[in-house]
Amino acid sequence: MNKKLRKAVIAGNWKMNKTRPEAFDLIEAIKPLAANADCEVVVCVPFTNLETAVNAVKGTNIRVGAQNCHFEKSGAFTGEISADMLAELGVEYVVLGHSERRQYFAETDETVNKRLKAALAAGLKPIVCVGELLWERECGITDEVLGKQCKLDFYGISADDMRKTVIAYEPVWAIGTGKTATAEQAEEACAYIRSVIAKLFGKDVADAVTVQYGGSMNAKNAAELLSKENVDGGLIGGASLKAPDFGEIIKAANG
Ligand code: PGA
Repeated sequence: MNKKLRKAVIAGNWKMNKTRPEAFDLIEAIKPLAANADCEVVVCVPFTNLETAVNAVKGTNIRVGAQNCHFEKSGAFTGEISADMLAELGVEYVVLGHSERRQYFAETDETVNKRLKAALAAGLKPIVCVGELLWERECGITDEVLGKQCKLDFYGISADDMRKTVIAYEPVWAIGTGKTATAEQAEEACAYIRSVIAKLFGKDVADAVTVQYGGSMNAKNAAELLSKENVDGGLIGGASLKAPDFGEIIKAANG
């Protein structure tokens, strides 16, 4: 990453894992590993663990994120959680548009865009996931897919809000598969995303915006991925559930 322009954001995406006592223990184990980090360290935990996590990280440099929010402020949306509810809890980040949400819960770019606006209005820092399917990469349309997602997901937000938004480049074929994009593939895609942001919001915003890589990032491959100019951190699933591995990734970001 370019440390002169941006600070790395290392975010764990715990997905549907950990009970409250387990979450507490994992955060306790991460605390000393994150204490001297010069990157931003975030744990995106299940809704049921948010309050535990917010209390556990008090007085530390670890931030807490949720894994989704609804786009309406309140109302008849059984099973949903609003951005305001998260903000009131002390949550700072929220993951939006993760490919698992798009794949299994029928989320679209349109609803990701609405969720993004709701999250920003509530003062949350969104982490918006974009990424191509394997066959889209094989067909040679990775750039088109990423460009379309960025145009739709970030439609109608201000340049200021774009600066506050973290983008996670997550090639769908690399998520939870053990198949990581090569550092070159990650760099190419993250640089392309930045060029789209430059066209939409101007070069200053593009230079400032954080573009993470996500997809089987781990203790072994993190340093190489994070050494790339346009890779500003990681959204980490599996490896964020083991404190020593997550700690190694934080170390790699401090580099
Ligand atoms: P993974 O997940 O690190 O387990 O591949 C990344 C993500 O889905 O955010």
